[in-house]
Amino acid sequence: MTVATWPVAELHVHIEGTLETELLVTLARRNNVELPSYDPAALRDLYRFTDLQSFLDIYYENLAVLRTEADFYDLGMAYLTRASAAGVRRAEIFFDPQTHLANGIPLDVVFGGLTRALGDARATLGISADLILCFLRHLGGRAAMETLEAALPYLDQFIGVGLDSAEVGFPPSLFTEVFAKATALGLHRVAHAGEEGGPDYVREALDLLGVERIDHGIRAIEDHDLVEILRKRQIPLTVCPLSNVCLRAIPMLGLHPLPAMLAVGLLVTVNSDDPAYFGGYVDDNLAALQREFSLDHHQMATLARNSFVASFLPEDEKRRHI
Ligand code: HPA
Ligand code: ZN
Repeated sequence: MTVATWPVAELHVHIEGTLETELLVTLARRNNVELPSYDPAALRDLYRFTDLQSFLDIYYENLAVLRTEADFYDLGMAYLTRASAAGVRRAEIFFDPQTHLANGIPLDVVFGGLTRALGDARATLGISADLILCFLRHLGGRAAMETLEAALPYLDQFIGVGLDSAEVGFPPSLFTEVFAKATALGLHRVAHAGEEGGPDYVREALDLLGVERIDHGIRAIEDHDLVEILRKRQIPLTVCPLSNVCLRAIPMLGLHPLPAMLAVGLLVTVNSDDPAYFGGYVDDNLAALQREFSLDHHQMATLARNSFVASFLPEDEKRRHI
């Protein structure tokens, strides 16, 4: 069986990270935004990352091309169309409103375009999708709270909150207040932790923010007691192998801890993170893992099943997929 045929849920994808260079050029021309080149291949050649920050610098710069509701719609539709072909039946999609607000784009434009894309994708592709609003950790806790408050009129358009951007130096403890408010609002909670930061970031996200899933979490493996907690509580880890190699969190795919994490009984899922930058969508991530580690049918089926178990779908809908 080819991996592309595995139906999966994708739980760790930044919609801004699905901006392919072809669409980047189209939007730059549409909105008169200057780019270093208008050749998609030449732009892709600039994507040589040494760590998370070197990626984030280019990623934020490119987002200046997103100006109108139609731009956000096109971005959302392009991802959902590609994801559907990759076998994705359910997508829980991160977006970074603070980046767009800083670019002068009102929340109404961001939500308008993305929510319309999700609705059309459900109708035309049969894919179920929801949004998770992420706070940029480098902007701190107070800015995160202001963002959540500004998003209150759109509460019916996102199902949860997350935490992304530069990890080291911006621990979960800075965001306890805003996550408490999100909890009180009935929102789901996730956080990037243990990507570049150590196991303590994962512990804090669990203990101080009450997150239901950890995004990445690969460095949890360094702490045996933490692994036991994650295993016992079956806290999902949304792992992104190609991202980890591209950003050098892991030196090469053959050294990725995912097979070990699976073997000890952690609830691991496979995801694309920022597929336009890291060389592949969820099917590509699964294919690369299968090739590298000769994963068998049982392991692949476990990864596919885990993705739905870890999703925020209602229990009856989950059961239809597993
Ligand atoms: N890590 C942290 N923040 C991000 C990422 C990531 O991989 N992608 C987009 N924002
Ligand atoms: Zn991410």
